[in-house]
Amino acid sequence: MRLQFPTLVAMAILALTSISPVALAQSADPHELYEQRCSGCHTDHARDFVQESILRADGKLIGRDSSMDVRAFLARGHGKLSAAEVEVMMTHLTSVLDAGALFRDNCVICHGRAVLFARSQLGIRNEVLVGRYSGHAVAEFLKTHGRLEAAEIGVVVEALASQVPGDSYRLN
Ligand code: HEC
Ligand code: HEC
Repeated sequence: MRLQFPTLVAMAILALTSISPVALAQSADPHELYEQRCSGCHTDHARDFVQESILRADGKLIGRDSSMDVRAFLARGHGKLSAAEVEVMMTHLTSVLDAGALFRDNCVICHGRAVLFARSQLGIRNEVLVGRYSGHAVAEFLKTHGRLEAAEIGVVVEALASQVPGDSYRLN
């Protein structure tokens, strides 16, 4: 078979793109890890993926459609994560799942969807999540608002902060 130039170019691109995940620096940032290794095939953001596709049963995370144990599935090579990255990913997926449940049970009734609430009312100032108009630090405010346990506040604050990414939500 004689290969045409466009075919060769396409093959070269395929070869490059299939090597690139290995060439990428091993990232410990769970958001980047999800973006680099999972979002190509799943939804853009872990929170949507978790909401649509992951459940908790007997203390384990389970795929909604497959009923597979997510840790075992990833450990067997789905998503091509190293053992350390499987741990980072499991911690991330678990905290996203917990935060979603906490927000649903304690906050949605007054504030609606977390993403809309965060983007309209909150922002980041000096790396701290604050009320966009009040300037209150959210972690402080939640000690007396919303009836969360102390340990749950951090989970919810981290999840809300991840809804206001990048410079557009940075307040000065
Ligand atoms: C090359 C594409 C691809 C990549 C990359 C990928 N997945 Fe998947 N994933 C799939 C497909 C297709 C399915 C559904 C078929 C199956 O169950 O194998 C799936 C299923 C799953 C399921 C089960 C969902 C359910 O409802 O049962 C989980 C959990 C999952 N993936 C997590 C991840 C995570 C986490 C990453 C990143 C580390 C990742 N996947 C990367 C293609 C991919
Ligand atoms: C019963 C209704 C109600 C519930 C439940 C509730 N909130 Fe609120 N929340 C409000 C109201 C009303 C305000 C604005 C008035 C105020 O500052 O107290 C507010 C303000 C806030 C603010 C401050 C925003 C700013 O501008 O500083 C944050 C952050 C917040 N809520 C988060 C939460 C979270 C997270 C939960 C769940 C754990 C929650 N709230 C549960 C009604 C509620």
